[in-house]
Amino acid sequence: NKSNDYEGLKVLVTAGPTREPIDPVRYISNHSSGKMGYAVAKAALERGACVKLVTGPVNIAPPPGAEVVCVTTAVEMHNEVMKSYGDFDIIVMVAAVADYRCASVAERKIKKSGEKLTLELVKNPDIAAELGKVKGSRILVGFSAETDNLLENAALKLASKNMDMIVANDVTMEGAGFGVDTNIVKLIKRDGSRIDLPVMSKEGVAHRILDEVLSIKNG
Ligand code: C5P
Repeated sequence: NKSNDYEGLKVLVTAGPTREPIDPVRYISNHSSGKMGYAVAKAALERGACVKLVTGPVNIAPPPGAEVVCVTTAVEMHNEVMKSYGDFDIIVMVAAVADYRCASVAERKIKKSGEKLTLELVKNPDIAAELGKVKGSRILVGFSAETDNLLENAALKLASKNMDMIVANDVTMEGAGFGVDTNIVKLIKRDGSRIDLPVMSKEGVAHRILDEVLSIKNG
C-alpha cells in the first residue's frame, strides 16, 4: 500500500469484454473476466485516486468507491469513454474490446437452416487509438494480450496508438491472462525501456503499473 500517492489524480479505467449482438439471443465476445481492470481500479482507489470504471459485462463486483458505468458493446464503451476522458489525468485501457461487430443485428432469432451461415462483421472503433490522437498531456496506458510475437506486437501498438506505456501480456502462459487471478506481464514505455515482471497477483501487477505511471507523470 503506497498510502496516498494518487491523491488528487483522476483515473479512468476500461475493463472486461464487450459483447456484440448477433440476434436477440446471441452475441460475439471473448474470455475477459474483468479481473485485471478491476484490480487497476481498486489499486488506484487505495492510493487515493478518483476512479471511473467503464466496464463490459463481468461476474465480479466493482471496487467500492469507483464511479461505475456498465456498457455492453464496443460502441457503447467508445461513446462513454469519449464523452468522459476530458476530466481524467490517467487512462488505463484494460478492456478486451471486440474488434468487429455484426454489420446488422437480426431483429428476430436466426433460425437454423442451411449447412453454412455467414455473418458479416464490420470494424469497431479503436477507443485507445482514438484517445491517443486527442490525449494531450494525459497518460494513456494500454494492454496487449498476445499469443504470438509478444514484444513486437506490443511495441507496435504502443507506437501506433500513441500510448505512454503498454502492458504486454502473453495469454498462452500458465498463470497469465484470462480468468486467472495471476498475471505475467512486461511493461514497455514510450522511451523503449522495459520491465519484465514475474508471475504476480493481478493486484500486484496493478500496483506496479500505477508505480510506473506515476514515474512517467512526475518525469
Ligand atoms: O489492438 P489491440 O486490440 O490488441 O489493442 C489492445 C489495447 O487497445 C487495449 O488497451 C484495449 O483496451 C485497447 N482497445 C480499445 N478499443 C478497441 C480495441 C482495443 O480501446 N477497439
